[in-house]
Amino acid sequence: MSPVEETALAPAAEWWQSAVIYQVYPRSFADGDGDGVGDLAGLTARLPYIASLGVDGIWMTPFQPSPQVDQGYDVSDYCGVDPLFGTMEQFDALLSDAHALGLRVLLDVVPNHCSSEHPLFQAALAAGPGSAERDMFHFVEGSVDMSDGGVPPNNWQSVFGGRAWSRANPGSPTDKDWYLHLFSPEQPDWNWRNPAVGEYFDGVLRFWFDKGVDGLRIDVAHALFKADGLPDSPSAGGVVDGLRSNPQVSDQEEVHEVYRRWRTLAEKYEPHRLLVGEVNLEPARAARYTRADEMQQAFAFAFVKLGWDPAAWAAVGNELEAARQLHGATPTWALENHDIVRSVTRFGGGEVGALRARAAMVALLGLPGPAYLYQGQELGLPEVDVPLESRVDPMWARGGVCRDGARVPLPWTAHDALSHGFSLAEAAPAVQASEPWLPQPEGWGTHAVELQQQDPESPLALVAKALELRRLLWKNEVFGPNDGGTWRIEDGSLLICERSTDFFVAVAMGTEPVQLPAGSVLLSAAPLAEDGWLQPNNAVWVLRG
Ligand code: GLC
Repeated sequence: MSPVEETALAPAAEWWQSAVIYQVYPRSFADGDGDGVGDLAGLTARLPYIASLGVDGIWMTPFQPSPQVDQGYDVSDYCGVDPLFGTMEQFDALLSDAHALGLRVLLDVVPNHCSSEHPLFQAALAAGPGSAERDMFHFVEGSVDMSDGGVPPNNWQSVFGGRAWSRANPGSPTDKDWYLHLFSPEQPDWNWRNPAVGEYFDGVLRFWFDKGVDGLRIDVAHALFKADGLPDSPSAGGVVDGLRSNPQVSDQEEVHEVYRRWRTLAEKYEPHRLLVGEVNLEPARAARYTRADEMQQAFAFAFVKLGWDPAAWAAVGNELEAARQLHGATPTWALENHDIVRSVTRFGGGEVGALRARAAMVALLGLPGPAYLYQGQELGLPEVDVPLESRVDPMWARGGVCRDGARVPLPWTAHDALSHGFSLAEAAPAVQASEPWLPQPEGWGTHAVELQQQDPESPLALVAKALELRRLLWKNEVFGPNDGGTWRIEDGSLLICERSTDFFVAVAMGTEPVQLPAGSVLLSAAPLAEDGWLQPNNAVWVLRG
């Protein structure tokens, strides 16, 4: 039997083990009402496009009510829909349309912090020092001697830049409380040592699971608990350090209890709901969040941070594999998301960057484990250098990097009318649609969906082909849930990941063509020039025997 022949065999695995999920950043996907901001109506109208890629589902970043200081990651009502994006009826329609198309729907839950406009934070501000209301957050007395600007309770720095504390009541000489915010001052951190916070979030999970939502992506999942007593950080909490590798600020043992409880809750539903964590830690620590009774998935962020460097890929790949063997969960692959520079640009930009991004995507989809694609990745979109005056990212405003360049509204049509089709024609039949919330650069239309749909060599066509083949390989049990990945380098620059004795992925990461080990090539990121050889910046899936 040919390994790519369709059979009746069903894979003996949970759906999420083989899944490829498409990340939707609703603001920038499709604008259904012509106001220049993407919304639920736009997304619903474009669901058939997502289904046509052959993915298993979508993950939607936040659309809940929010002042939008951090583009929705400052939530003021966890169980609603921000009018900017639509209504709950529209969400229900979206969910049912997605299910009808065979797409699962994952939402983002933001349990580390909320918006300073959240009613419980507002109640805490009003209730004053020492109150039960303030105990839902981290309010701690500090100095209010403003001659030196005031001294906060500890030395932690915010991930977005500047200190991680703000005065609760800046005008008051008697209210000496400061509150903790690992991100912007408009995003106060919940106090997870107070059981009422856990109960509140159990209710949030139930609300969405009862509606039929298939799973949740958990924002900053490793940071909910801080070291007891909020001690000073020895490293004085540099911006990145402050969260990722600072033992005072995140990755506390107590957080695992939350995910055990949530897994139990997720498995009370049929089908079981999925939990995928944003766990920004090194592989050995991150894998502890996907032990058998915790989340099912956590993004392999160590992989996202790599350049075009075979030694680094092999080292991180083997580290992830060691973590899998220790804790049992396969890595969850991603090359892009709304927080990081687009892969085309990360890998060098221009034609070379585009080739490498294709190769990396082909490699990633052939690796053991689930994978996520970020909207626009299937179009090979580069990072946009958003003009200074148009930047809105709070991280940028506080002195950090700017993430807007990966969030520019998608080009659907080559023609620039209605922001390259980002605003739907139905939405603005007579009127001109508003400018998109982030400007699209010159030449954006050359990446348009409508052009790529006509081009068999386009990044879009490649993704669809890879996903179709991937599905068949799962069906035919060439790919299985217990696959591992052993990484090595041949001839100095040919990166190989052996998925099983039958199948390997190879990526040519050097400057010269390299000879492939024997086998039949099932898929290549770019056309193969010569049998048995791989040109630089190409990747293949190879079946042995
Ligand atoms: C996560 C989100 C990011 C957001 C931050 C704070 O890292 O992906 O966009 O700014 O959390 O919620």
